[in-house]
Amino acid sequence: MLLHKSTWQEIEGYLGRSRTIVVPIGSNEQHGPTGLLGTDWMCPEIIANEAQKSADILIAPTFNIGMAQHHLGFGGTISLRPSTFMLAIGDWCRSLGAHGFTKLYFLNGHGGNHSTIEAAFSELYAEASFAGRPRGFSCKVRNWWELRGVMSLVSRQFPSGHGSHATPSEIAITQWAYPDAIKSANYAPRIATSGPIREATDFRARYADGRMGSDPGLATPEKGGELVAAAVQALIAEVQAFDAEPASPYPG
Ligand code: NI
Repeated sequence: MLLHKSTWQEIEGYLGRSRTIVVPIGSNEQHGPTGLLGTDWMCPEIIANEAQKSADILIAPTFNIGMAQHHLGFGGTISLRPSTFMLAIGDWCRSLGAHGFTKLYFLNGHGGNHSTIEAAFSELYAEASFAGRPRGFSCKVRNWWELRGVMSLVSRQFPSGHGSHATPSEIAITQWAYPDAIKSANYAPRIATSGPIREATDFRARYADGRMGSDPGLATPEKGGELVAAAVQALIAEVQAFDAEPASPYPG
């Protein structure tokens, strides 16, 4: 079930069956010479949208701008600073919590978001802790590639040249979902260098075409389809387990 294609009555009906919602979250940032700018929000959206076709799971609109300051040296990147990102995540969670959602599951597509998302959750819990009251909802974040079985499939599909940015796995997923947007380019070296992540000018100087450790030319739509299938199964199981957790494990 997709929130943006539902009416408010349908959402209130869903809340009678479940108090759990999945929020795809990512980033709009350069992904090397062949990767789409939307790769990091499109991957979790694609996986979540597939999952709700076979399970009664509610998917929120995609939170598609994240913490991508280091990619701002490349055209098309849009970023929130960490402090803004945390405030925005907080208001998304408070909105959903106000409707009665008690389990907020964020499916993340950008590694650079992870620590800020966790810090945003801590701010939300701290609000309740300092006031001496229950928060009323629990938050969870999972990177899609960390879903059970996905990384082992990635390792089999891409024994070398996977890297950490503009990876063939994420590009394969977008190729599977959007075959009309498959790009090709000549680039060298075949496998990009790796190193630290700092500010945007430093990033652009280190990683001239935007890749980190990857050979995105290894991506195929078929491999993307296999990854989506594995991720969907694991996501459904994990969301159902989260939904089944007691809302407050320490009553009283
Ligand atoms: Ni990415």
